[in-house]
Amino acid sequence: MKPTPINEEIVLDPKRYIVSETDEHGKITFCNDYFIEICGYSKEELLGHAHNIIRHPDMPKVVFKLLWETISQGKNINAVIKNMAKDGRYYWVFTEFESRRDADTGKIIGYTASRKTISKHVTEIVSNLYAKLLEIEKKDGLEASQTYLFNFLKEKGDDINFQNFMENIHKFY
Ligand SMILES: Cc1cc2nc3c(=O)[nH]c(=O)nc-3n(C[C@H](O)[C@H](O)[C@H](O)COP(=O)(O)O)c2cc1C
Repeated sequence: MKPTPINEEIVLDPKRYIVSETDEHGKITFCNDYFIEICGYSKEELLGHAHNIIRHPDMPKVVFKLLWETISQGKNINAVIKNMAKDGRYYWVFTEFESRRDADTGKIIGYTASRKTISKHVTEIVSNLYAKLLEIEKKDGLEASQTYLFNFLKEKGDDINFQNFMENIHKFY
């Protein structure tokens, strides 16, 4: 059973990274000690389970759609994500996703995510954008929310896509 979200933030140590690895389907195969400490689930509850175990209901679907479209092509991406701990509290992270390939075949065998804390200012802006995307998704569906996001990015510049927007998010604000 998913926990009930509570409006209380977990403050992260800016010096520590929250790291996890998954197989090619997004099932968790590794998490570091800080990951376990922050999310509050045990290693047994995490390993072998889908990564959406820490998904926060405030996250719009479109972010994960674009994330998977990018990483499954073997491209790296950064994304600002709000996660939910086992006790329902939340934590915002700047996440760097990388794919891992088989050395012989070049086939993607899994993904690695490395997370760190992000400034309050960026969090506020991203949370407003995500709230808008979620509202659109609930009302008009995923396609409408993607259209809104792409228009939002276009306003930032003709060469701005989700990937480089997330990469350069500090520069935009
Ligand atoms: C390496 C890796 C790390 C991920 N980390 C997170 C994460 O921290 N939080 C999260 O909500 N989803 C994360 N995801 C995305 C999940 O796989 C999933 O797409 C997302 O939680 C949405 O799940 P849902 O479509 O079942 O609702 C990660 C995926 C990968 C491949």
